[in-house]
Amino acid sequence: MRYRIAIVGARIGGKHAAAIAALPDCFELAGVCDLDPARASGIAGTTPVSTDYAGLLERDDIDIVTLCTPSHLHFEQTRMAQQAGKHVVCEKPVAGTVEDLDQLARLEAETGRLVFPVLQKRHGHGLQKLRHLRDRDLLGRLYVASAESHWSRGADYYANPWRGRLATELGGTLMTHAIHQHDMVLSIVGSVQSVFARIATSVHPIETEDCASITATSVDGGLLSFSATVGSHAPTSRLRFCFEHLTAESSTDSKAPHRDPWSFTPSDTRREAIGQALSAFVPGDEDFVSLYRAVHADLVAGRKTGRLDDFRPVLALTQAAYASARSGREIFLSDPGSAQAPRAIHIQ
Ligand SMILES: NC(=O)c1ccc[n+]([C@@H]2O[C@H](COP(=O)([O-])OP(=O)(O)OC[C@H]3O[C@@H](n4cnc5c(N)ncnc54)[C@H](O)[C@@H]3O)[C@@H](O)[C@H]2O)c1
Repeated sequence: MRYRIAIVGARIGGKHAAAIAALPDCFELAGVCDLDPARASGIAGTTPVSTDYAGLLERDDIDIVTLCTPSHLHFEQTRMAQQAGKHVVCEKPVAGTVEDLDQLARLEAETGRLVFPVLQKRHGHGLQKLRHLRDRDLLGRLYVASAESHWSRGADYYANPWRGRLATELGGTLMTHAIHQHDMVLSIVGSVQSVFARIATSVHPIETEDCASITATSVDGGLLSFSATVGSHAPTSRLRFCFEHLTAESSTDSKAPHRDPWSFTPSDTRREAIGQALSAFVPGDEDFVSLYRAVHADLVAGRKTGRLDDFRPVLALTQAAYASARSGREIFLSDPGSAQAPRAIHIQ
C-alpha cells in the first residue's frame, strides 16, 4: 500500500520530505502547504503547493497529513485533519497537556484516523542497541539514569515570533529541546512516578524557561535526573544509564545522542550475554526514515490506534515539571505503577 502525504509547514518539513522521498514504495508526496508559498515550493519539487490548510484537508487524494507548523497549532490542526478523514504525523509537541492528548485519542476511536507523534530520536542505532538489550532482559534493575541537553540558541532563534512565548511554544527548553532526550530515557526506563523541578529564564529575555533541572523517580524505583539549557558554549547532549548489569552512555553530539557511538560496559556476570546480543544487533534505518517506515507498517497492519501513548510519558514528565516549578512541590503522578499511562497532577 502506498499512502499519499501532504506536509504542512516547510522548514523542518524539509526533513520529512526527504524521508518520504527515501521510501517511494510506501509514500508519495502529494502536497505541501505553508503560509509562505516560496518556502513550500522549496521542498515540494513537482508536488502542488498551497497556503490554505483547510482547503488542503478537502482534497480526497491525501491519506496522511504531516504537521510541521509552530507548536501551538498542532492540537487543533490534528483534530481538523482527523475530522477530515486523514491520519496525522505530528511534530513534537503534539499537545501541551495530557488532557489534550486524551482528546486526540478519543478522536482516533471516533474517526479511525490515527496520530503518530514525531519522536525520531527513538530511531537511532545507539538507543536501538540499548532497547535491544532491554528487550532481551539483560539490564537488570535501574539504579540511576540522566540526560543533559546543554544546547546553544542565540537571539536570532528567538526572533521567530512563536518561540519563547508560552502561548505559542507551549513551554520552553523542556518542551522544545530537551523533550527528545527525556523521551529517549523514558522509552527505556518507563514512566515517571514523581517529579521535582526548578526552571529559570537566565539566558534570553523571553517568557519561557531556558534552563531547567529535574529530579524524578521511575515507576520501578530508579532515580532520574535531567538538566537542560540553551546557554551552553559547548553544545552537548548526553544520556547515561546505570543498570544492575550494564552502564550505557550515549554520544555527546548535541543533535544526535541517539546515534552511534555509544559505550556499553557490562557487569562481569553478563559480559558474555551482552557481548553476544550486541553482536547480533542488525542496524536498520535511522531517524525520520525509520519513523516513517514504522508509520507505514502500523497502517498496513490495520492498527486501531496510533502512537499517542509513546508521547504520553514525556508529556506527563514535562507537565509535572512545570507544575512542580510553579508550586515548589514534588508532583506525584496519579496512577504510578498501573497499566495505565501516567497523568500529571495540576497545581494552579
Ligand atoms: N523533531 C525535531 O527534531 C524537530 C526539529 C525542529 C522543529 N521541530 C518542531 O517542528 C515544529 C516547527 O518547527 P520549525 O523550526 O520548522 O518552525 P518554523 O517557524 O521555522 O517553521 C514553521 C513553518 O510553518 C509555517 N506555518 C505557520 N503556520 C502555518 C499554517 N497555519 N499553515 C501552514 N503553514 C504554516 C510557517 O510559515 C513556517 O514556514 C515545531 O513544533 C518544532 O517543535 C521538531
